[in-house]
Amino acid sequence: MASLDLSVIPEHVAIIMDGNGRWAKQRGLPRTIGHNKGVEAVRETVKAAGEAGVKFLTLFAFSSENWSRPESEIEALLGLLRRFIRRDLADLHRENVRIRIIGERDNLRGDILPLLLEAEETTRNNTAMTLVIAFNYGSRNEIARAVAKIAADVAAGFIAPDAVDAEMISRRLDTADIPDPDLIIRTSGEERLSNFLLWQAAYSELVFLPCYWPDFDRQQFEEALRIFASRDRRFGGLSPATTAVVG
Ligand code: IPE
Ligand code: IPE
Ligand code: MG
Repeated sequence: MASLDLSVIPEHVAIIMDGNGRWAKQRGLPRTIGHNKGVEAVRETVKAAGEAGVKFLTLFAFSSENWSRPESEIEALLGLLRRFIRRDLADLHRENVRIRIIGERDNLRGDILPLLLEAEETTRNNTAMTLVIAFNYGSRNEIARAVAKIAADVAAGFIAPDAVDAEMISRRLDTADIPDPDLIIRTSGEERLSNFLLWQAAYSELVFLPCYWPDFDRQQFEEALRIFASRDRRFGGLSPATTAVVG
C-alpha cells in the first residue's frame, strides 16, 4: 500500500464483476466453478477496499437481465449469494461493515429477500465501510421506480411538477444517501456499463481491466486505484492547474 497516494482514494468504488464464465471456460470447467471462485475475489476485494480507506464499495452481483440465463446457472448464483450471506455476515459485522442492498425487491424468490433484509438489519449501525450489493439490479428499472414514486406524489398533490429536479430523482433511487461512485471498475475486458448505475455514473471515472473476475485480487484493486489517482476529474469545469494559468 506504500505506493498508493492516499489523498486521492475514491470515497465510493463500484465494481462490475465480470468474466466468471470465461475464466472457467478457459480451464475447461463449468461456468459455476468460475462463480464459486469469484466469491473469493469478493472477500479479498472487500478487505482491500476497507484497508485502502474506501468508504463505499458497490458490487454488481446479479442484474435484472441475468434472469435470462439458464435456470441451473441462476440457481447456482442464488445459492452462492445465500451462502455468502450465511457464512460471511458474521465476519462482515465483526469488521464493522454495513451492508446495503440495491435493486428491485418485489417478487424475489423464496428466502432471498428475508436474507437480504437480515444482512441490512444486522449491520445497519456499522460505520467502517458500506458494502452495497446490487442484486436484481438494473438502472433503468431503478430510475423507472423512482419516477413512479414521484409521479404518485405529483398525482396526490404533494409536489408540483416543476419542483421535480435531478436532486429529487437521486433521493428516490435505491442509492439515496449513498454518494455517486467516484470510480467504476469492470473486469473481463468488456467496456460497457450493462445497465449499472447509469444515473449515478454521470461523473464516475471508468476503469476497464482485462483480467477475469476470479483473478481479481488486491494487486488488481490497487492498480485500479492508481489509474484513478492519475485521472484529472473536471466535472465540466477546469482542472486546478489550468485555472491557475488562466487566472
Ligand atoms: C459475472 O461473470 C457474474 C455475473 C454476471 C453474475 P459472467 O457470468 O458474466 O461471466 P462471463 O462474462 O460469461 O465470462
Ligand atoms: C453484468 O455482467 C452483470 C453483473 C456483473 C452482475 P453481464 O455479464 O451480465 O453483462 P453483459 O451481458 O456482458 O453485458
Ligand atoms: Mg459477463
